[in-house]
Amino acid sequence: MNESLAVTVEGFVAESLATHGRDPRHLLQHLIRVQQRFSCVPDAAVEALSAALDVTRTQVRAAIAFYAFLHDRPRGAFEIRFSDNITDRMLGSRRLIRLLIERLGLTGLPAWGCDLVRVDGRVSVGLASCTGMCDQGPALLVNGQAVTNLDAQRMDRIADLVQEGIPLERWPGEFFRVENNIRRRGLLLGNPATDGAALRRLVDEGADAALAEVERSGLRGRGGAGFTTALKWRFCREAPGTDRYVVCNADEGEPGTFKDRVLLTDYADLVIEGMTVCAGVLGARRGFLYLRGEYLYLLPHLESVLQRRRAEGLLGTRILGADGLDFDIEIHLGAGAYICGEESALIESLEGKRGVTRKRPPFPVTSGFDDQPTVVNNVETFLAAARVVQWGGYWLRGEGTDQSAGSKILSVSGDCARPGIYEYPFGTPVHQVLSDCGAENTQAVQISGAAGATLSPADFDRIIAFEDLPTAGSFMIFDHRRDLLDMVRNFAAFFAHESCGFCTPCRVGGALLRNLVEKVAAGQGSEYDLSEMRHIGAVMRQASYCGLGHTAPNHVLNTLDKFPQIYRRRLAREAHTPSFDLDAALSEARALTGRDDVGAHVRDGSEVSS
Ligand SMILES: Cc1cc2nc3c(=O)[nH]c(=O)nc-3n(C[C@H](O)[C@H](O)[C@H](O)COP(=O)(O)O)c2cc1C
Ligand code: SF4
Repeated sequence: MNESLAVTVEGFVAESLATHGRDPRHLLQHLIRVQQRFSCVPDAAVEALSAALDVTRTQVRAAIAFYAFLHDRPRGAFEIRFSDNITDRMLGSRRLIRLLIERLGLTGLPAWGCDLVRVDGRVSVGLASCTGMCDQGPALLVNGQAVTNLDAQRMDRIADLVQEGIPLERWPGEFFRVENNIRRRGLLLGNPATDGAALRRLVDEGADAALAEVERSGLRGRGGAGFTTALKWRFCREAPGTDRYVVCNADEGEPGTFKDRVLLTDYADLVIEGMTVCAGVLGARRGFLYLRGEYLYLLPHLESVLQRRRAEGLLGTRILGADGLDFDIEIHLGAGAYICGEESALIESLEGKRGVTRKRPPFPVTSGFDDQPTVVNNVETFLAAARVVQWGGYWLRGEGTDQSAGSKILSVSGDCARPGIYEYPFGTPVHQVLSDCGAENTQAVQISGAAGATLSPADFDRIIAFEDLPTAGSFMIFDHRRDLLDMVRNFAAFFAHESCGFCTPCRVGGALLRNLVEKVAAGQGSEYDLSEMRHIGAVMRQASYCGLGHTAPNHVLNTLDKFPQIYRRRLAREAHTPSFDLDAALSEARALTGRDDVGAHVRDGSEVSS
């Protein structure tokens, strides 16, 4: 690096430290700022941050290597990342990637974790697993900002803007427009916001009464696992500790899920109110909203909501004039790691480290952020909790099923006429959602994202509820035109890429599964490979360390059971087929020696001629 750049980098880091502090737990946030400014984290920044925050250079470099959005070498001045979820592909993203690459004079295709960088440094093109815009894809991120509704025309225009070096601020505004597409409002989305009402009730009636309403409501977490919210709050409240923390999990990394994005856009006040009520119940003074890096564009909006609420006395010290009710929220950005949605990995990331799952117990409710009792809840859970405290627990109980009170917000995408956000009472059958969103000829539904279940038409009478089909919200639809193996390949590659690498069943099992799926897709698979897939999937479910590994084989195991034909019709033979094609590999040698007789070929897939 030249000397003047090193000076600029050091100056930038010094400014970041002066503005945002020297807490080592802010390391990731400093790194993200440096990355945004220099399109990588240069060595000079590593040195400066290591010295100022008293963390080793190795720790800083490990964080850079861990997060997909951080790099130690520059990407392009325009860093483009295409969303590579299966729904983007179904909407033609692969063709558009090729178009752009051609227009920019690049060669090859990007792979996950492997971007194409133009030699002049002007532009790079890479992939992101799912940018949360499945209802308006294909989509991409350019320097972290989301561009939606891509088509050939938009690709051409983007290529021109890049070639001419036009800064993003001067790109057409409509490129960056993100729609909410709320198609069905229910219990949560249908009622107009009344800011501060839940907090007023908390102040008037006290923390015990607020917790009693949450208990009465039967509210269960909306992030997937469905843990009882009141129980989580109570455990945390009663745990020994000097401080307590409230964390809103807005990582929303599950492919196909985008409802939290919409809630943070239109219902941010209610989400923050839910966090503040939770803080009042726990006696917490500090909270974090962990926002996935893909939603960078929401940061100014969220900061302004926080600022306004501080000005209105709804956040900060002596909230609504109540003694001892002091609570404020910081927003922390993620940097492109799916595992950071897992609550203990999220806490590690909040503390500025690599997002690696923690050993449990202890659980976050007793030992979370800074080893203190911490509640982590999903965005939708906080929104529901605010309403429950405002309107009482019976209000939520009035809808839903015995074990699933209230409603669920779904992110619907894929083969349907009206993708978007739909809110339904728990207990709604799958076929109802399909008919409302205009899905026809549906072959399969992937519910709850890549980690969820694959449903066949035999499942369409089943209901959305924790006791039947639990879901974090994603609802991806595949009609009969689709080859479901494309979905399986996409998810298998996703999990192999996103494994944090800590435990062998997930790290190795995920890679083996991906390779076997590819082998079958290439027409080289056998029955033996299918049984290997079942075996590896079972081991991953059983022996993986965290939820990522437990759920990663679901799509493979489900499709093997429900859609065996997508594998079978490609099988090369019944018996074992090696994944390595030795005969093909010898073609170069045959060409060099000028031999192509029978003896120069491998016989029975096992012998090499002498
Ligand atoms: C790999 C993985 C990713 C996850 N991603 C998210 C996520 O993006 N958002 C979320 O709220 N919960 C996610 N979770 C679940 C969280 O760990 C946690 O259970 C949840 O945030 C608790 O909130 P709730 O009780 O309100 O559901 C994920 C879990 C795993 C294993
Ligand atoms: S299951 Fe996967 S993501 Fe979870 S700890 Fe093991 S390697 Fe990491």
